[in-house]
Amino acid sequence: MQEGWNEQRRASEARAPRERASNVVWQQVEVSAASRAALTGNTPCVLWFTGLSGAGKSTIANVVEKQLHAAGRLTYLLDGDNLRYGLNSDLGFSDADRVENIRRVSEVAKLMVDAGLITIVCLISPFSADRRRARELIGAGRFIEVFVDTPLDVAEARDPKGLYKKARRGEIRNFTAIDSPYERPEHAEIVLDTTSCSPESAAATIIAMLNRAALSDALPRAEKEAEAHAIG
Ligand SMILES: Nc1ncnc2c1ncn2[C@@H]1O[C@H](COP(=O)(O)OP(=O)(O)O)[C@@H](O)[C@H]1O
Ligand SMILES: [Mg+2]
Repeated sequence: MQEGWNEQRRASEARAPRERASNVVWQQVEVSAASRAALTGNTPCVLWFTGLSGAGKSTIANVVEKQLHAAGRLTYLLDGDNLRYGLNSDLGFSDADRVENIRRVSEVAKLMVDAGLITIVCLISPFSADRRRARELIGAGRFIEVFVDTPLDVAEARDPKGLYKKARRGEIRNFTAIDSPYERPEHAEIVLDTTSCSPESAAATIIAMLNRAALSDALPRAEKEAEAHAIG
């Protein structure tokens, strides 16, 4: 099995970017991301939820979105499962398809941040290389990785969609943490232990971080510099 996992990792790391058609030139547009963000009043960013199936990504993300929405924030939730009904309906769970799945979702999330939204992504996203590419694409500072750190035995006991049972019976191949690897994030901005916190308290941790980030964004530059000197 280890060899299979290594093959998957290599496939993920080796994947070359798709070639761009020739004779395509970037078209400048006149309304900027900053002016769109000013209109929404948001500090646009991506909350990228990663973790095993059944970890609680969708549950917590929904609470976060409901609370942000109630607070008048413009949001959008890109749930990996839902995207497989449309945008990604041509993709399966092979190594190459998982990489392409994450690439597409990253690109859509980037557009949504550009449009001024607080964008919430729920994807198992098991490979570090794919998450790193998403972070690079969206831009450090706008990418908040939320590791929903639920151990396999707990996620499997929850099994909200009955998928672990099917995977154990061999009815689903390439199932993360059963016969496909999950590479734990090492530098996630937020790590949630769902064995000791409710979805509501997990959401509160995330929203507190967003508020801190928005506050620091809102500080005028001179004030930030003064703060930096005071700290340094
Ligand atoms: N603290 C918790 N945080 C999130 N989900 C929890 C928690 N405790 C129990 N659960 C349950 O675990 C399941 C998680 O499922 P889901 O959110 O669909 O996972 P994922 O989207 O990561 O596959 C849900 O049935 C949820 O009610
Ligand atoms: Mg989910």
